[in-house]
Amino acid sequence: MKIRKLTPEEYAKASALLHQAFPGSAYEVQLVETLHQKGKTMHEWVCIHINKVIAYIAFTNAYQGSVVCGLHLAPLAVKPEFQRQGIGSELLRFALRQDVIKESTIFVVGNPSFYQRFGFEPCAMPLCPFDKNNAHFLSLRNSTVSQFTVGYEPEFRGL
Ligand SMILES: CC(C)(COP(=O)(O)OP(=O)(O)OC[C@H]1O[C@@H](n2cnc3c(N)ncnc32)[C@H](O)[C@@H]1OP(=O)(O)O)[C@@H](O)C(=O)NCCC(=O)NCCS
Repeated sequence: MKIRKLTPEEYAKASALLHQAFPGSAYEVQLVETLHQKGKTMHEWVCIHINKVIAYIAFTNAYQGSVVCGLHLAPLAVKPEFQRQGIGSELLRFALRQDVIKESTIFVVGNPSFYQRFGFEPCAMPLCPFDKNNAHFLSLRNSTVSQFTVGYEPEFRGL
């Protein structure tokens, strides 16, 4: 298995993976495809196994007003038949070591017990617009003291 950046030639493969990992939800596929179409800033890596994309991770800018204040991690997905074998964890650990990620504040909406393994902590501030009471909103390297609601690229409309 190899981890590397997603190339534009693999966008369709990434979409197929998101379809499989989020059955019954078109949201993640549409989100990533629209972000690609609009040329939004994204940091994306994939796990390749025998020429197949088996896992995908993406980060997009997080905003305080119009100023970038960190990155949002979303989505993270592993092909169903490869789940629970450590691949999602490996891809996430790899991404968190990359230069463009390793000094940024990272936000994520997700299962707290999963993300806490990687150093994420429950996030009190900023507020997440898609997660009531920040119940599943976590952050890494977050030293926010002011009160604000964090911004996402407008293509996000709830997770
Ligand atoms: C969540 C996900 C990215 C984790 O990747 P993974 O390779 O399966 O996970 P790992 O093997 O590295 O780690 C296992 C941990 O992931 C979590 N996990 C994985 N699949 C899970 C599931 N179906 N239900 C609940 N927790 C799950 C658990 O915490 C698990 O720990 P445990 O095995 O000790 O209980 C992957 O299962 C996935 O793509 N799921 C569907 C899409 C999704 O829900 N993504 C959420 C992030 S946007």
